[in-house]
Amino acid sequence: MERREFVTASVAGGMAAALTMSQQAEALEQKMSAALDKATMDQGLNGQGLNGQDVGLPWMCEVAATAERIRTNGPGEAPPSGRVLMGEDPRLPKMPAAPTLMDFFRLRFAPASHLLQSANLALKNGHPEKIILACLLHDMSNAALIRTDHGYWGAQMVEPYVDEEVSWAIRAHQALRFFPDESVGYEYPKSYIRMFGGEYKPEPYIVAAYEKARAHKWYMTSRLITLNDLYAFDPNVKVSLDTFTDIIGRNFRQPKDGLGFDGSPVAHMWRTVIRPNSFL
Ligand SMILES: [Fe+2]
Ligand SMILES: [Fe+2]
Repeated sequence: MERREFVTASVAGGMAAALTMSQQAEALEQKMSAALDKATMDQGLNGQGLNGQDVGLPWMCEVAATAERIRTNGPGEAPPSGRVLMGEDPRLPKMPAAPTLMDFFRLRFAPASHLLQSANLALKNGHPEKIILACLLHDMSNAALIRTDHGYWGAQMVEPYVDEEVSWAIRAHQALRFFPDESVGYEYPKSYIRMFGGEYKPEPYIVAAYEKARAHKWYMTSRLITLNDLYAFDPNVKVSLDTFTDIIGRNFRQPKDGLGFDGSPVAHMWRTVIRPNSFL
């Protein structure tokens, strides 16, 4: 069972009380995003990698024990007697030696329908390129790396390569989605009421992050992520990654050695997405 299904089933099955409210919010967002990806792939709209292979959902979403998954010789042999996988996993599409952001989208994040649709909505709404890029990247972490605190993880991953305002906005969207702003027509998500109950209050660290962001000069940049986020789940909308080639080119500082291999403080995070099942 995939972790996404596991969390969703767990929440539906009464384990909700064991999860914090933030974790439940993450689970709901993941459920919506995964449902969109599934619907998209069922329709054959956008599930193809660079060479036409069906890349499916990211593998690191499986809940199976790592050692079981990566053992490379006989079943029943546990490390240290059994060999384990080091480096690239042959079951995943091969990444280029110096992978670009586009490579990650095609070979690891795909189909990434939620990201593409969010960015497309921002594009249609006439927002500046940095907003479109922020929407394109805002849920990158839960598409391929980790769901919990995804705004913080995602912001960190892109920080060396984007305008400071973009990474700030991605980080802040983690908190802002819980707080309405009538001035721009952002309402508290009805799905959250259904999911968490009307009495739900965000955790103190989320409230503190919101209050800090609310007073920040870039507040509206992050708020626009939440505005273009909520209405982005439409299984009938097909958006090509190519739509954003030029925007990425102008706004994402692609390292010449490739993401994961440029010696940056976050290179290990990109390498983890490339080789999620390497034993060490
Ligand atoms: Fe998000
Ligand atoms: Fe989102």
